[in-house]
Amino acid sequence: MKKVFVNGYGSIGSRITAFLKDDPEIEVIGIGKYSPDEKVTFATSKGLNVYAPEKKLHDFKNFKISGSIESALDECDLVIDASPGGYGFKNKKTLYEPRNLMVIYQGGETIVGDQAVSDLLFNSRANYDLSFGKKHVMQGSCNVTGMGRILEPLRDRFGDEIIRFDVTLVRRWADIEQTEKKVEDTIEMTEKPHHGDDVKTYFGKDVPLFVRAIKVPTRQMHLHIMDIRFKNSAPKPSELHSLFSKEFGVATLWTAKGTKDVRDFADTMRFNFTDTNMIHIHANMTTSIEDTVQMMYSDDQTGIVIPENHMLMQSMLFGKSYQEAFSYTESLFHMKEKKQKLEEYFAILG
Ligand SMILES: NC(=O)c1ccc[n+]([C@@H]2O[C@H](COP(=O)([O-])OP(=O)(O)OC[C@H]3O[C@@H](n4cnc5c(N)ncnc54)[C@H](OP(=O)(O)O)[C@@H]3O)[C@@H](O)[C@H]2O)c1
Repeated sequence: MKKVFVNGYGSIGSRITAFLKDDPEIEVIGIGKYSPDEKVTFATSKGLNVYAPEKKLHDFKNFKISGSIESALDECDLVIDASPGGYGFKNKKTLYEPRNLMVIYQGGETIVGDQAVSDLLFNSRANYDLSFGKKHVMQGSCNVTGMGRILEPLRDRFGDEIIRFDVTLVRRWADIEQTEKKVEDTIEMTEKPHHGDDVKTYFGKDVPLFVRAIKVPTRQMHLHIMDIRFKNSAPKPSELHSLFSKEFGVATLWTAKGTKDVRDFADTMRFNFTDTNMIHIHANMTTSIEDTVQMMYSDDQTGIVIPENHMLMQSMLFGKSYQEAFSYTESLFHMKEKKQKLEEYFAILG
């Protein structure tokens, strides 16, 4: 059994931990907390050992904690860093590299420039095998992971027939549990979004992919609006949808009016954290006009990267093949079943 420490217990860290607790190959030795708040009590009530930074131990005197993060790191085989964007790099320098630890970082980090945490941005659909033997790997962000689930199958099927991808990312303002974050009543424009460049690290730097992004006042998922331009006539929507029928982590829905409908259904089905862990093609919005397919899909911002982290962890810790890791992740996340339930519920009314 391998020992894993999850450093950070916010939207992503708490989800990863919840799944790892059900994984018999893994012992979660603890989680790292930086603020002495009610989430410490929540975590201990879930049976988790909570650790705090050595320098802050005094601030946690009214909570039941198990020791310092530094001491926990000395005991573990792999760290999943789930800190706020940019802190992963700082942790790498101060905590992980000095201990020669294996680490997975999240999408708020970068793999370019002097703050790079790794030379690999992981996307299981695109580059699983490249993670073998690596010590430091970054999991792509939710938008970057979601785009890969659409782009890779399209390229596999249509290749050079596609001459351009244009994507507008409509990003959520905050996560459902981030109640302390106010959702501003504005539409914010993102200058030079990183998402296109991140996708190109696995999709190819010269791919004609053009991405722009805005942020809107919602907590209910991201929505990607994508136009795919073909050399000749574009395929019919039905041909496009059938391409995704067997894809992992992609559900094709017809009757969801908005992103909240999807989360509400996930809630009634008691999926963990109301996550679907996937993207959802809103098939009623797909059109094919002359040389262009227009499509929209929503991206479960908090859930989508959790099975990806699990796949990556298996490659790094156990060197499992893609197929072995995929089957094992499926046995814990039940993605096939979730996809089927979503597709049945949001099917075309007969
Ligand atoms: N939220 C999403 O939908 C989403 C999706 C994909 C990827 N990501 C990426 O995942 C990462 C984490 O995002 P999040 O949304 O989970 O953030 P979050 O909800 O704000 O949680 C961040 C956590 O990190 C802890 N923390 C603070 N300082 C830290 C440090 N120096 N080292 C380690 N942990 C520290 C915080 O602890 P305290 O609360 O105790 O202060 C908190 O538990 C980011 O890189 C983000 O870009 C987020």
